[in-house]
Amino acid sequence: MLITSPETIQEVLVSAVRAIGARNGYASARLEAEILLAHTLNISRALLLARLGDAIADKDAAQFAGMVARRAQGEPLAYIVGHQEFYGLDFYVDRRVLIPRHETEHVVEFALRALKKIPHLEPVIVDAGTGSGAIALALARNTSRAKIIATDISPDALAVAKLNSARLHLTERVEFCQTDLLEGIAAPIDILTANLPYIPLERFERLPREIRRYEPRLALMAGLDGLSVIRRLLKQVEAHMARSGFIFLEISEEQGDAARELVTALLPRAQVEIYRDLEGLDRVVEIRFEE
Ligand SMILES: C[S@@+](CC[C@H](N)C(=O)[O-])C[C@H]1O[C@@H](n2cnc3c(N)ncnc32)[C@H](O)[C@@H]1O
Repeated sequence: MLITSPETIQEVLVSAVRAIGARNGYASARLEAEILLAHTLNISRALLLARLGDAIADKDAAQFAGMVARRAQGEPLAYIVGHQEFYGLDFYVDRRVLIPRHETEHVVEFALRALKKIPHLEPVIVDAGTGSGAIALALARNTSRAKIIATDISPDALAVAKLNSARLHLTERVEFCQTDLLEGIAAPIDILTANLPYIPLERFERLPREIRRYEPRLALMAGLDGLSVIRRLLKQVEAHMARSGFIFLEISEEQGDAARELVTALLPRAQVEIYRDLEGLDRVVEIRFEE
């Protein structure tokens, strides 16, 4: 009778790196395999690396193999492990929402800076197209001064955002509203943040498979020029903004000039600035109304 000894952590990691690397490239395959195995075993990566010679239980090995297969098919790591860090907070994510990106943290920073310039007691912040709630909840965690409202047209996205507000103990701090952009928002808005869809339709087929196949299309696509949702928002804002309010919109790197033109045409009394991200790419539009 052939008796096989159980596999070690090191052995299953090596096979996982081969499976993930063969489909997605080897650059981050080892790191991803370690994250998936640490998640399976519910231990830190540091502890995993200290236990490479230990045997792995059959049920853990089977669960890990399932996750490795999903990753090898191209599913984003964040959906497989079910969470993503954003602005120092841990967000639950699944395929109902866009995975929050680090470049969107700039929007949070700009909004917190603008908040300091607003003198009255309870400024109103609205985050339009909140998805997982990333921007709204990061703002709520970092200020207790503002009333914060987060909107999304997708009930599925709002369900995830509400789950995150409960996980982060911020349910009292953010009000969620299912609506089209700002429709039905009554309060004058002091700060409006929005990371709305901005991918032009013709670019869909060229998006990385990870994004194209797994992230919600409603979170990504925005008409022929990628500005259709932002354009509709800008047409709504004048009726909603406080007299000296701020708007911060995320855009994609090639949209800086077009976004400036759009704001100038639609909101002639507003000041507009385009800011770059850490990679030097156009990323955030600031629109300021002054009395
Ligand atoms: C690019 S995702 C961003 C999600 C989140 N703000 C973030 O930064 O991670 C855009 C979000 O806008 C929502 N959305 C798209 N069209 C909308 C509309 N007309 N009104 C409100 N939300 C909309 C989508 O459902 C999606 O959750």
